[in-house]
Amino acid sequence: MRRKIVAGNWKMNLTFPQARELALHLNTWVNAHKPNAEIIIAPTHLYLEQLNKDLKNSRIRVASQNVSAMENGAYTGDVSAEQLLSIGTKISIVGHSERRAYHHEVDKYIGMKISHLYKKGMSPILCVGEKLEDRESGKHFDVVKEQLNIALERQNPEDLLRDFIVAYEPVWAIGTGKTASPDQAQEMHDFIRKTIGNQHGLAVANATSILYGGSVNAGNARDLFEQYDIDGALVGGASLKLEDFTTIINARG
Ligand code: G3P
Repeated sequence: MRRKIVAGNWKMNLTFPQARELALHLNTWVNAHKPNAEIIIAPTHLYLEQLNKDLKNSRIRVASQNVSAMENGAYTGDVSAEQLLSIGTKISIVGHSERRAYHHEVDKYIGMKISHLYKKGMSPILCVGEKLEDRESGKHFDVVKEQLNIALERQNPEDLLRDFIVAYEPVWAIGTGKTASPDQAQEMHDFIRKTIGNQHGLAVANATSILYGGSVNAGNARDLFEQYDIDGALVGGASLKLEDFTTIINARG
């Protein structure tokens, strides 16, 4: 039930022509190599409509990097699930640490986004992860447990069973070149699966794909993927380079 997934979070990078070119080259590569892993890319909202069209018959899924928890209305600058769905986007990252840090998003609100996505027939990629000071003070498990418990407390297990992806992204490893060691990542992925299991049951825990994110690159992906509970990766910087991203996809097997 657990799917192998390699997802690229393009963050606030690439011009429109660069993004299209990267997506089209990636699609050509996917068609030629037919990787087992599911591939997801998350460009800026602005490019979703065109990339959904460009990749209409592709195996690559196009995700949004964020979504509002609200129905359409007076929320200047936000993008709703209904709007995303109307241009063919069915999956969204929620709770990325950059949203938590720069936009003060909290677990309860992230949980509302997840419920809202499921209500609209869409699905989330929920990001969790501790800061450096949490790890140094030995609180990393408590922090991640709280993030999961609050964001998932109101979710319906049937929704989670249908399509649920978690990305463990230790904040200290994002864009720093410092990756969690395979053992550190495995330990946390195992903990995440058990935490989900305690809250929503074994079936949900075993159906959830748990991705690792944080300075994944062409050189370290294989060792991470050898770990039992690491189902794939959510890749930032290295997803912007076709050669690196496809090497990571190959490593996922
Ligand atoms: O969502 C992906 C992420 O935050 C990791 O970014 O650049 O460290 O791979 P990066």
